[in-house]
Amino acid sequence: MSPYDCRSMNILRTLLFGLVCAAMGTAICVAKTTVTSAPFGKMPDGTAVEIFTLSSPTVEARIMTYGGILVSLKTADRNAKMADVVLGYDTLDGYVANFNGSGTAYFGALIGRYGNRIGKASFMLDGKKYALSANNNGNSLHGGPHGYSNVVWKGKAIPNGVELTYFSKDGEEGYPGNLTVTVRYTLVGSDLKIDYSATTDKNTVINLTNHTYFNLAAQGNILQHQLTLNAARFTPVDAGLIPTGELKSVTGTPFDFRKATAIGERIEADDEQLHLGKGYDHNWVLDNQDGKLSEAAVLYDPSTGRELRVLTTEPGIQFYSGNFLDGTIKGKGGTAYAFRSGMCLETQHYPDSPNHPDFPTTELKAGKRYHSQTVFSFSSR
Ligand code: GLA
Repeated sequence: MSPYDCRSMNILRTLLFGLVCAAMGTAICVAKTTVTSAPFGKMPDGTAVEIFTLSSPTVEARIMTYGGILVSLKTADRNAKMADVVLGYDTLDGYVANFNGSGTAYFGALIGRYGNRIGKASFMLDGKKYALSANNNGNSLHGGPHGYSNVVWKGKAIPNGVELTYFSKDGEEGYPGNLTVTVRYTLVGSDLKIDYSATTDKNTVINLTNHTYFNLAAQGNILQHQLTLNAARFTPVDAGLIPTGELKSVTGTPFDFRKATAIGERIEADDEQLHLGKGYDHNWVLDNQDGKLSEAAVLYDPSTGRELRVLTTEPGIQFYSGNFLDGTIKGKGGTAYAFRSGMCLETQHYPDSPNHPDFPTTELKAGKRYHSQTVFSFSSR
């Protein structure tokens, strides 16, 4: 089929879908997402892993119970050509080996109990010092080596999606409190929504996110992608990538993405913060701080026309430009994931918040409910 035929078919499909929706009300449109599940192999200890496929007329997302990982995400380009726009592996074994190896990339995973770094792998809470598993130059990264990205969740199909639950024991990786975590991935039309919630029986800290690597061109590197970040400030880091505590203005720096800018345009600038991160690996302070869902970022790939809008209730976003990818990881279809061939937009509270009383708090009190929401919204132009 020529790209032109393909495009007409897609337009026809969208039109028909629109007509059905208009005639029958929204309920029928919502029901348009199908959810199926299938076995996806076994963990080294024999635990069975399942994969859920969420299909709407425009997007297909596959999520597995190991790490709550978004394994693949197919979206259409401007010619209605579908492609998988996230990095990862074809099989469970690939993920398990990477998540237990030395250079864990956290492809597509749910991250917890605390996304990004906690300095010196420790923090004080209610006058008590908590020591965490250190896995990153003496710091704790992404909840430690057996964080939520490296455990098997319970999964069940729900309308339009999958609900994953995980029980994180008091003291796991050093964190206080029995925490019951629920994450729901739902797909409606071209919006993939992630809802995170949790409750604890002791005061604790929590910062959940998702670590998907996007490449909207589905090939090459991400340097031509144009990024907009709705943030006038960012949190500069020290040599261990721990925030110094400053909320620095982006004005006049390579960190100013308030207007859509190609990622490669300034990434090699002679800037101390870029040198420390080996590129972009920083938290931006989102302009919207009211906890309501609002646009944080827009990513656009001019070569294919694919666009991703990221909306969140979180106060920060970590833009990581894939600087630790160096071609040694062979991912889907044997592709060597080269330097900056994927990038993450991790909605979050700021790294190391438990050690920065001035940052928005990450404390969750016993008996209270944590809730956070992020939407990845796809289109093309
Ligand atoms: C995060 C960190 C990076 C890196 C990646 C995983 O985004 O900020 O420094 O550790 O995870 O490779």
